[in-house]
Amino acid sequence: MFHLGNINDSLAGTADSSSWQIIDLPHDWSILGDFNKDNPATPGGGALPGGIGWYHKKFTLQESDSSGLVFIDFDGIYRNSEVWINGHFLGKRPYGYSSFRYELTPWLKFGSRTNLIAVKVDNSVQPNSRWYSGSGIYRNVWLVKTGKIHVDHWGTYISALKVEKVSAEIKIQTSIRNQSGEGQSFTIKTTVFDFNEKQVAENITEQKLVKDSSGQSIINLKIENPVLWSVDNPKLYKAVSEIIYSGKTMDTYSTSFGIRTIRFDKEKGFFLNDQPMKIRGVCDHHDLGCLGSAINTRALERQLQLLKDMGCNAIRTSHNPPAPELLDLCDRMGFLVMDEAFDMWSMQKTPFDYHLDWKEWHVKDLTDLILRDRNHPSVIIWSIGNEIPNQWNATGDTIARELAGIVRKLDSTRPITAACDNVSPGNTIIHSGALDLVGLNYHIGFYKDLQKMFPGGAYIATETTSAIASRGVYNRPADSIYRWPFDKSEKGKTMNEDLTCPAYDNTSTPWGSTHEETWKLAKKFDYMSGIFIWTGFDYLGEPTPYWFPARSSYFGILDLAGFPKDAYYMYQSEWTPKPVVHIVPHWTWNGKEKQIIDVWVYTNCKEVELFLNGKSLGTKSKSGDDLHLAWKVPYEAGTLKATGRTDGKEVLSEEVKTAGAPAKIILTADRSNINADGRDLSFVKVSIADKDGNLVPDASNLVKFSVNGQGSIQGVDNGCPTSMEHFRANSRKAYNGLCLVVIGSSQKAGDIKLDASSDGLQSATVIINSK
Ligand code: GAL
Repeated sequence: MFHLGNINDSLAGTADSSSWQIIDLPHDWSILGDFNKDNPATPGGGALPGGIGWYHKKFTLQESDSSGLVFIDFDGIYRNSEVWINGHFLGKRPYGYSSFRYELTPWLKFGSRTNLIAVKVDNSVQPNSRWYSGSGIYRNVWLVKTGKIHVDHWGTYISALKVEKVSAEIKIQTSIRNQSGEGQSFTIKTTVFDFNEKQVAENITEQKLVKDSSGQSIINLKIENPVLWSVDNPKLYKAVSEIIYSGKTMDTYSTSFGIRTIRFDKEKGFFLNDQPMKIRGVCDHHDLGCLGSAINTRALERQLQLLKDMGCNAIRTSHNPPAPELLDLCDRMGFLVMDEAFDMWSMQKTPFDYHLDWKEWHVKDLTDLILRDRNHPSVIIWSIGNEIPNQWNATGDTIARELAGIVRKLDSTRPITAACDNVSPGNTIIHSGALDLVGLNYHIGFYKDLQKMFPGGAYIATETTSAIASRGVYNRPADSIYRWPFDKSEKGKTMNEDLTCPAYDNTSTPWGSTHEETWKLAKKFDYMSGIFIWTGFDYLGEPTPYWFPARSSYFGILDLAGFPKDAYYMYQSEWTPKPVVHIVPHWTWNGKEKQIIDVWVYTNCKEVELFLNGKSLGTKSKSGDDLHLAWKVPYEAGTLKATGRTDGKEVLSEEVKTAGAPAKIILTADRSNINADGRDLSFVKVSIADKDGNLVPDASNLVKFSVNGQGSIQGVDNGCPTSMEHFRANSRKAYNGLCLVVIGSSQKAGDIKLDASSDGLQSATVIINSK
């Protein structure tokens, strides 16, 4: 049950919540609100409301559960959570991105009697974030039952000691806690299974713990012919730890892990399993577009699939600990991760952010992040912070060393970095000697001098690019570069009055660079281990270079709805072996007859021939460090076709056609079979097409949706950063021809029928089967 608004803390366990709203977790109440520039989050935080919210959850336990222990695990609450069980206060947690546990056992009732968990969430004091955070219990919550002697919270640590082709030696450290009230001898049985559930190693150890104590078991195990975890073959093993006493298994704890080696070479960059690999990463915030920040595994998986198809192999969890599901997906799908702790330390970026909690909480928050995440093979770098203001003064040195010390004590198998925008030798964080990797944000011009500037370092471009683009907008010439927002000295220059940015890759922030500018340099220097592009997806908040009514970012390679902007195909042509021929822009320019249109083609074919209405406009191939081909084409309605050839053979052709008036709706579901679990999603692309099925590239028709059967609309969007429409609604205007409706399953199996209609257009229907 959920109540938006405050109640007196003394009523935490007794308030009558029968009239509160029934909701499902994970839950983000902000995403359902109205955009308003005066909301305390400001447009920088997404212009959506915050506030205080209360949650009540009633549950019962079996009488037999009283023989063990019961805990509650919160994966993350934004922010300032306080938790009570049956009126007893358990604790508070300010940082909105930390995962944490409380023990419930002493205050529980068993059998038919009801227990009540009360949670207060206070996100009323804002701004406390530079991006959209969401509000509420936005990550999963788990009720965990263990034996009285049990593997501790995040109690295993698995690392590979020696990795060879024929065998790997792994070390498993297990922390065990004895809460049985007496000294006990017990057995720890550890069994390792491979990805086919086949047992590959086992160890049985006897141990003794005095009453109310905890201890560690450390074992080394050999795994024959290990299959190494990699981004192309992300094979996972599983260690199952059992605590056995009085003849029974009293606790079982499972840890997923991978066997792999990583290395950062000062000259040659990053190596995974001894193979050089450029890190081709993106930074992302945690919101899931129209779904807000409430974690949904399928929504995140879809984002990762889109990035994988682009050739991306790494994610930076900017600028905070991610949802555990992200790391599970990265382990499973094969992504490298830079796991980041903080966006600020003791000095503020916004008035009410975590700097206020720094003193009391940073040791615990950082410790918990490392303990939680150190078994994930995907995690290859720890970042202790992003553009930390302390880098400019002496405090940067002391704090960096303190934080690196905390990390190293818990995990010395991964390098530590910090994402620094101050690249002068005076940067106190880099200078502290605390970092293993020099982490550089932007400043691509310095890449060539890094070895002189920071001798002996290994380097990672922790953040790059900050190019800005609106999907489907081509309202500036392609061959000029724009740096927006202008600085004050450039008065008189204009940005686009309609708050758009052109989607030719020609516009970036002044501190950033275009996609092409960045990648050209990053790929040139082997010692640059790789890049993390700002950003993979547009996100809510930080609407650079504009301000309200802009309320989400323009930085994404994909827009907020997950539709690719054109730069997506530049990366795809560079980062995948898959043949790419992609024409920029569309070919519907009524009124521009005979005017010159800049045409770009992204390709990895040897040459491309361009045709307008069957007439060749010439064949071109990339030379030097070109990342696209360019033509200047006098506009004439019809068909523009690009044919890619390699070694004289046609590989692929793409064509764009001049569209007529909007005539019909086309629905394309990313999956037409989903699970009837009340969580699974189908993302349905809604295209506005002319009578022949060509996308109308400037269509903005309002599309109405109705859903029948075992599902519902979870969100709608169109990727337009200035739309004031609600994200949970039965309609959406198209933006440049497209919008999105996200359909969620219920817990009942059956068909879900989605109808889409719009005045004057032929309607469309899609059926999604939920099993
Ligand atoms: C960076 C910062 C990011 C984001 C980006 C926008 O300096 O680290 O969080 O604000 O700028 O360009």
